[in-house]
Amino acid sequence: MKSHLNGLAVLAYLVFSLGMAMSFRGTTILSVRKAFPVDTVDLDSTRIGIRTVASGENAVWEMVWGPDNHIWFTDQDGKVSRLNPETGTINEILQIKDYYRKRLGLMSMVLHPDWKKHPHVFINYSHIRSDSTIVSKLVRYTYDGRILKDPALLYEIPGYLGHNGSRLVISKDKKILWATGDLKQKETIHNPKFTNGKVLRLNLDGTIPADNPYPGSPAWSMGFRVPQGLTYTATGNLFIAEHGDATDDEVNLVTKAGHYGWPYVAGFCDLTEEQAYCTKITTIMPVKAWTPTIAPAGMDYYNGNITEWKNALLLSTLKDQSLRILHLDAAGTNVVGEDIMFSKQFGRLRDVCVSPSGDIYLATSNRDWNPPANFPIAEDDRIIRISRIGSIPGGTAKKVAANGPAAETGATLYTNFCESCHKPDGRGVPGSFPSLVGSARLAGKKDRLVAMLLKGGQAASGEAMPSFRFLSDAQLSQLAAHVKSRFAPQLPAITGEDFREARKTAD
Ligand code: HEC
Repeated sequence: MKSHLNGLAVLAYLVFSLGMAMSFRGTTILSVRKAFPVDTVDLDSTRIGIRTVASGENAVWEMVWGPDNHIWFTDQDGKVSRLNPETGTINEILQIKDYYRKRLGLMSMVLHPDWKKHPHVFINYSHIRSDSTIVSKLVRYTYDGRILKDPALLYEIPGYLGHNGSRLVISKDKKILWATGDLKQKETIHNPKFTNGKVLRLNLDGTIPADNPYPGSPAWSMGFRVPQGLTYTATGNLFIAEHGDATDDEVNLVTKAGHYGWPYVAGFCDLTEEQAYCTKITTIMPVKAWTPTIAPAGMDYYNGNITEWKNALLLSTLKDQSLRILHLDAAGTNVVGEDIMFSKQFGRLRDVCVSPSGDIYLATSNRDWNPPANFPIAEDDRIIRISRIGSIPGGTAKKVAANGPAAETGATLYTNFCESCHKPDGRGVPGSFPSLVGSARLAGKKDRLVAMLLKGGQAASGEAMPSFRFLSDAQLSQLAAHVKSRFAPQLPAITGEDFREARKTAD
């Protein structure tokens, strides 16, 4: 049974709960309140309610609002489903067979804007060929009112275990825009003959539009690392959100033939090498960048009835486990403010979807390959609704504060820069990120830890650790002290001086 409820819990619910309900595949059951850490939140003048509308899912990647007022969503195990957000009923309408899920699998999806005439669904997923090469397919399906059928392969590009990016949108002029990841290959990102690290633009039949900037190429703009967010604003501006490496996650405004810098520029053109590059190649600067990184995923434009969030980009994050409200200026071209909501309450958030009435849906991704501490919970993965439930009597100006900068300690630095890979308990992810606990390679000497932090490294698994030399010697020594005290007591004491010396010999 998927439900975690027993008789006592149901009784507890009946006695204590104020009436939240959720349903598993159409059977409505009552939920225990403690599974939902928040149920109302007060903004300046709006009270918002939070409610789980679907649970027991598996690494949801995409949610789009359908013409039938259902949420159409994908999960990484190759499934497309329709969720009735009012009743919680879910219909599975497609199970693709030839997806490859080592890390990814089925990813993004978009519906044809002219649905009555063309009930088409476009999906993007990873596939492994018999010769073991991984490809990323764009396939069109047709909805017959019950299921998705008649797959037609529209486009196929090289893929990889990770770094595929993947988000699809359709423009007003009916082109598919497709955000692709760098596939961990750097040399080809700025070459329009290759499809990695780009926004691609295709006709709805998979052909290349005549007005693309590089004739014969699907490339529209380039220089992205791992973009998983792509959305149009009401005024038709296209924004993209991408994962940086050790620093600089970014949101950018996408323009035709625009260059966005990666791998030569991370975030702004501020380092000496970056400035040198930017004087040669016109590089568009982000409208927002984050260091420490937050791992931004799905993004949607909001202009609904939660007045505090009007004219904003809503960005869901994985590593930071939050929803970012990125307030736009009147022209809709710049980010002028940010609120951070729901930190660590629901776990990893892969996507966000806005309904025509202004409700917001969040999809968790706690059953993917990289679950955070304390997740998944029994209900994962979930689709959660955030909606306006009223105004605050008297309109108290109680602002939901963005998380202020915490005092920087070794523990905070570890949380911000190391935890996403090595995990809060330092035990890493077997086969991907090594455990710092009981590591023989760390035993008794300073050099390995110092070198890893300054230079990074690549494991046999192909996973890499970025360099953290942008941190100060004082910060690095705080980190080292934290690693020693929490995970590796056998390490000798490491000071700022050790990093200062090592930088000299490394430079
Ligand atoms: C993007 C993922 C990632 C992040 C973030 C990351 N690491 Fe690593 N780390 C790795 C990988 C992969 C390796 C293995 C590299 C190798 O074998 O050369 C590694 C290796 C190490 C090692 C060596 C372990 C051993 O057994 O030799 C140490 C120590 C370490 N990391 C500390 C840190 C610290 C401290 C931070 C935060 C500042 C950090 N790492 C951030 C991925 C990461």
